[in-house]
Amino acid sequence: MGKGSGYGKVILFGEHFVVHGVPGIVSATDAKTDSEVKKTAQVITITDERKGSKGYAEEKKLQQIESIQRMLKAMGMNPQTSMSIWIGGDLPGFSGLGASAASSVAIARAISEEFGLNLPDERINEVAYEAEKAYAGNPSGIDNTAATFGGFMWFKKNTAGGPDFVERISIREPVEIVICSTGKVANTKAMVEGVAERKKQNPQKYDPMFKRAEEIAAEGKKALETGDIKKVGELMNENHTILQGIEVSSKELDLLVDIARKEGALGAKLTGGGGGGCMVALTPGKELQEKVASAMEKEGFQVLRTKVGVQKQ
Ligand code: PMV
Repeated sequence: MGKGSGYGKVILFGEHFVVHGVPGIVSATDAKTDSEVKKTAQVITITDERKGSKGYAEEKKLQQIESIQRMLKAMGMNPQTSMSIWIGGDLPGFSGLGASAASSVAIARAISEEFGLNLPDERINEVAYEAEKAYAGNPSGIDNTAATFGGFMWFKKNTAGGPDFVERISIREPVEIVICSTGKVANTKAMVEGVAERKKQNPQKYDPMFKRAEEIAAEGKKALETGDIKKVGELMNENHTILQGIEVSSKELDLLVDIARKEGALGAKLTGGGGGGCMVALTPGKELQEKVASAMEKEGFQVLRTKVGVQKQ
């Protein structure tokens, strides 16, 4: 049997904009998706035991099957190769946390081990990028990169097609965050396509927001590296406003952002594809993290208490 894992991720700055070559800042979560793969005599079977939003696994099923076909092709294997695939782990199946990329990396690693391919991380990352196309259409690559390598990073897609630009970010101390799921499963592909279409139709409105997103990422990196956490929070708030501007937020995400800010979070924004999915709030210190997280739980939402900037073990 082959085994593998992939990290989840939380985007602090730049989702959607990264697809178009604007830099983004992403932290892998310590929660992971695990996979086990075994050669079998007939067909491909998938057993998905991830916890998370109701309906996540069912709604993503067709995209998941396509992603595995793409993955096998990218590995130079016959897409009909029979195997049983199990997926589990402690990363919840919430939209926005890079769960699809985490599962693609986990499955690719498990297949690589079971079939003796010995793929290095760079190849696993490329294979997972191909798999991500099934879920995101035209992905930036930020999710599979974080899922493969882990850690905290600055990511800029190479829109000309060469290698992406990735730089590790180090901060003095890991900072507590709260991730909260709206409970709504989102279709990343439709969200990414919607932004591209509206950007094309309305460049006067969209171009200034893309420019500001680029500045926010650069200012965010500086604030993180100098330990100016208050500034990081302010920039996250501003990033949420421009995400509302490009029409990827939702009533539920705006509600979660409001609750987080009222409870004292230094900043809050949607994270990932939006249109449902998750919100991230910056809540330095265990006490503030608990206050924000429990306020959301009281409203019936599922939360994940974690940190950004934890060095990869
Ligand atoms: O919702 P998620 O976890 O799939 O994140 C999508 C992030 C986007 O920037 C919207 C798309 C991408 O490929 O970067």
